This record gives sequence, C-alpha cells and structure tokens, in this order.
Amino acid sequence: MKKQGINEMRTARSGGWAAHLQKAVRAVREAGRIQKRSFNAAHTVVFKSETDLVTEVDHACERAVVRILKKAFPDHDLLLEETCLPQTGSPYQWVVDPLDGTTNYTHRYPHFCCSVALRHQGKTVLGAVLDPFRDELFTATRGQGAYLNGRSIRVSRETRLIRCLVGTGFPCDMREAEDNNLDTFCTVVPEVRSIRRSGCAALDLCYLAAGRLDGYWVVELAPWDTAAGVLIIQEAGGRVTDRRGGKNTDGTSGLVGSNGRIHGKLMRLLRGS
Ligand code: IPD
Ligand code: CA
Ligand code: CA
Repeated sequence: MKKQGINEMRTARSGGWAAHLQKAVRAVREAGRIQKRSFNAAHTVVFKSETDLVTEVDHACERAVVRILKKAFPDHDLLLEETCLPQTGSPYQWVVDPLDGTTNYTHRYPHFCCSVALRHQGKTVLGAVLDPFRDELFTATRGQGAYLNGRSIRVSRETRLIRCLVGTGFPCDMREAEDNNLDTFCTVVPEVRSIRRSGCAALDLCYLAAGRLDGYWVVELAPWDTAAGVLIIQEAGGRVTDRRGGKNTDGTSGLVGSNGRIHGKLMRLLRGS
C-alpha cells in the first residue's frame, strides 16, 4: 500500500474493521485512477433511459473494485450497480457504486466519485468514498467516527434554515415520475440560504458529513448511492431518515439528511410542499 494510504489508515480509527477498510480504500483508489485516466477520452455511452447513462468507465471501475474485493474476501456477497450478481446469504455484503455522477463524468464536469461500503448482518459497518480530482477520501467505520483524508470531520452546527446550504437531486425518471421533487424544490428555495444540486449523491452525503452542506433531501436513491455516505454522516454526528422520518436509510424511500439540529424544521418544510 502507498505511503498516503498507510497514513490515512493510521489516523482514521477503524475498530475491528481495519483490514476491510484498507481493501475498500484500495478499491476506491483504483477506481479513481481509472476515472482520472479516462476523463478526457470520448466515452461509449449506453442509455439505460434517456437520462440514465452508463459508460465503459463505470464498467471498468466496477471490474477493478470487484477484482480487489473478491480476491480479499472470496466468500462475501457483492451488491453492484452495474452487474446483478446472485446473493449467497453471506453475512457480509459489499455495496458498490463504481462511478457515482456518470452524467457529470460524460460532460467532463469534474465532480464524481466511487463509493464502497460493507454491510455486516444487514448493518453498514464501513464506507469509503473517493473524489479523485480533489483527492478527497471520506471514510467511516461504525462507532469510530468519520474522516476526510484521515482527519476527523463533523457536521455543521447551524440551527437556522435561512442560514443553511442544502443539497438535493432529481430522480433519473423525473420526466415521467409523479413525485419528481420540483414542487418541493420550489418550497425549499426561499426558506434556505441556497440549494446545490451536484449530480453526485454520494459526495452530497459526504459534504453534509464534512459540514459543507447543512441538509440534504431526495425523493429516491439506490443503496449503492447511499450505503457509504449515510454511515459517514452518522459517524460525523448527523442524522439520516427516510422522507417520513423513518429508519429506512438505503434511499429507496427517499432520504433526508441533516446536521441533526435542523432535521425537524427541514422535515416540516418538506412535508408542507
Ligand atoms: C446518480 C447521481 C445523481 C442522483 C441520481 C443517481 P449515477 O447516480 O448520484 O446525483 O441524482 O439519482 O442515480 O447514475 O451517476 O451513479
Ligand atoms: Ca449513483
Ligand atoms: Ca453509478
């Protein structure tokens, strides 16, 4: 492992999951190398739908992550965005978004990442998210805090919505979806300082954990978008619920994340739309 990686592991506490976190970090770094190397190339874009894209880079990153994880943990299950693998019932399940922010990537808009998380008996125990252009590695292990490049991070302390910078996203099928977030967006805009829509959900969650955003909501995401980022927020002292305030935080029932202090106010605002 490179010196930088070793230093990150020394400073980021990882409980009994150090070896697993090390592999997760190696996997996101390998994906990041591929993403940077191919960034300016012409990409083969396949349209899952008119607005849901996948490129050869998504697949190359996924193959690289799978190679690293399968070699280290041959018996573990893998939940991947781009390939549906059979789940064997292993208590260990890796959840992988090989390239989050594919639309940004195809437009050479440098805001995307790779996200890798490990679930043990259904609970996320660690997560690693790498933004290769800024060289920002976000990590967390359950009960051990959240880190950016090995330094501890915390959510913001803001309590007034009007002073908050909040993030959101729109579903890929927003043209057809009844619940496409546009009405809610209009409700929230005048009540907060500003809104960001970055096109990379996993980094949105990490930015909330690092105090760069104060709140975040979406009507729907997938487990590979959320698994690592949700743990990173929780370990940074933040709060995550589904859109009804419930415990499902895999994104499939929507997601509301915050610094904790504004959670109630944000929920009320979202319900009011
Ligand atoms: C997408 C991004 C985007 C979010 C979409 C996701 P992908 O993931 O995270 O920010 O709004 O819902 O599908 O397709 O780039 O991995
Ligand atoms: Ca994604
Ligand atoms: Ca993806």
